[in-house]
Amino acid sequence: MTIQADAIEKDRNYSVPVAARPDFVLARGEGVTLYDTEGRAYTDWVAGIAVNALGYGDQELNAAVGQQMDTGLIHVSGLYHTQALAELAELLCSISFAEKVYFCNSGAEANEGALKFARKLAYNKELTHKTKVVSFSDAFHGRTMGALAITPKEKYQIPFRPMVPGAVVGEFNSIESASEIIDDETVAVIVEPIQGEGGINIATAEFLQALRQLCDQHQAALIFDEIQCGMGRTGELWAYSFSGVTPDIMTLAKPLAGGLPVGAVLTNEEVGSAMSPGDHGSTFSGGAVVMRAAEVVINRVISDGFMEHVKEVGDYLLERLSEINSPHITDVRGRGLIAGIELDIPPAGIVNQGYEHGLLLASSGSNVIRFIPPLIIEKKHVDELVEKLTSILEGIDDQAES
Ligand SMILES: Cc1ncc(COP(=O)(O)O)c(C=O)c1O
Repeated sequence: MTIQADAIEKDRNYSVPVAARPDFVLARGEGVTLYDTEGRAYTDWVAGIAVNALGYGDQELNAAVGQQMDTGLIHVSGLYHTQALAELAELLCSISFAEKVYFCNSGAEANEGALKFARKLAYNKELTHKTKVVSFSDAFHGRTMGALAITPKEKYQIPFRPMVPGAVVGEFNSIESASEIIDDETVAVIVEPIQGEGGINIATAEFLQALRQLCDQHQAALIFDEIQCGMGRTGELWAYSFSGVTPDIMTLAKPLAGGLPVGAVLTNEEVGSAMSPGDHGSTFSGGAVVMRAAEVVINRVISDGFMEHVKEVGDYLLERLSEINSPHITDVRGRGLIAGIELDIPPAGIVNQGYEHGLLLASSGSNVIRFIPPLIIEKKHVDELVEKLTSILEGIDDQAES
């Protein structure tokens, strides 16, 4: 039996079947290319779902993780200080609006934390009637019970009802809808400045500004979920920057530690200081190896030329995608290296054909192919992508005609 067949059989027999994985087994990665156990190469436009910002095999990242491992200090829990955590907290505050940071292990966990922080602030102010959390259509904030309640997609929610109470959904990018539902009972408003899972939908500056104003008016915390769109992916450090608005809380995860599991809740002084010892925590939060990895990723992303590269390749990606002449493409949108093409056919067929052409692609929403590659991807990879996508789309037309 091949390694591939063996791994697929074991996975099918023993893993809880929450994912439908394609029939190959990834074995190693280099740069923006992944290789399977049969030696086939795939240019990676998924990056572990917007995670592997520095691609695969980054020497500096590997060395930092190795050095921390060599100290013997992988994990000590949140009960004790480590230099790695303290330095990363300072670094994150120095490059953002934040004055306090809480580390955790995933995006969903960061959003759960954000919701609790907002609730604690209201509690401290004796505003315990404030329990409503507003999110927006097509949002994705995670799959744990609190995060799921504010992720308004029936497919994800129905089997797990009842949801955590208090979640109210407005229409994304509609100031009118936000004005109708944000009120004095609202404790928090959460929004992705660019919706990733929902179909690469970009919030307008006016919408984010209106949310800021409504949150101020009703003493609600404004949470920006930058888990997918943040940390340099748009060519700006924070995707919301274009709006001129500052949130009270921002959640990060995915790319922050270059592929190691991490989440972070960044807060202003008021929100962060509302939390006291024992209010929140997690055994693995802020592990030293992960913190050292994140330090490397952040320093690389803010280093000279890095975000300019993201912007340049991102612009080129949008330009080249717009040139694909296919009747099936109904829109091309994005910012930096978070982009998508909207289709009038289901994207799954194209994702599957991508594998045969040596491309890893991911869908988003119901009809979008999304591009969220390692941030080190280059224009030559864009050319390869466009050439292969064009051929896949032409193949679909030929099939339809025959
Ligand atoms: C915007 C956003 N928030 C939250 C999450 C949840 O993150 P995780 O899968 O790490 O729990 C995701 C994951 O796709 C996301 O894109």
